[in-house]
Amino acid sequence: MEVVIVPDATAGGELIAEAIATLVRRKPDALLGVATGSTPLPIYQALSAKVRAGEVDASRARICQLDEYVGLPAGHPESYRSVVLREVVEPLGLGEDAFLGPDGTAEDVQAACEAYDSALSEAGGVDLQLLGIGTDGHIGFNEPCSSLASRTRIKTLTQQTREDNARFFDSPDEVPHHVITQGIGTILEARHLVLLATGEGKADAVAHAVEGPVAALVPASALQLHPHATVVVDEAAASKL
Ligand code: GLP
Repeated sequence: MEVVIVPDATAGGELIAEAIATLVRRKPDALLGVATGSTPLPIYQALSAKVRAGEVDASRARICQLDEYVGLPAGHPESYRSVVLREVVEPLGLGEDAFLGPDGTAEDVQAACEAYDSALSEAGGVDLQLLGIGTDGHIGFNEPCSSLASRTRIKTLTQQTREDNARFFDSPDEVPHHVITQGIGTILEARHLVLLATGEGKADAVAHAVEGPVAALVPASALQLHPHATVVVDEAAASKL
């Protein structure tokens, strides 16, 4: 695992955006796995700035989702589908046909999970998967104790994660209890994993993930098993390394 310490979130976003641009110059139809939350926003802003400036042609790139809430209507502003369309797909000038995501509104959620897992493989696999990290060490929505071999499936959020994500909703009660997430085994199939963590609040989780033992209790520690994993941290998030 490669750990890169950058001065701040903007520098992390710029560094990762350049890595994505380099990938897309080499493989124009690359499949990019994107994460939600606040952390990756500087990446998307830096990448769309590069596209607007003509530094990279991302018109053939494809975007896929890491996770999704169950039960939020697809058009809900905080469904991850809406977030990814708003923050990534539209700013890059792509259409919805360039986008793959699980169906969080499906009646048969398990079937939707399996269909999405298969769709990722059929699309040729994820070339670069962006990840954030939860304060409890989760990746995607794989909460502590998730199997390191897990596939895309339904999960129940911990109270901590619901509280962490309540800021996106009008009231904490509106945060869904259930989610679909790529499993840890699914995530590990991406060709390159890039995790960005910023801020002091992530320092413990980063230290456990990078320097602790590989353990289901810290899902992000599974990156230690991957042959090409890059962890980009700002100085605050690196403060316990
Ligand atoms: C959610 C998402 C994760 C993300 C995490 C951290 O739980 N499912 O993919 O990494 O939030 O979010 P933030 O970057 O806002 O701290």
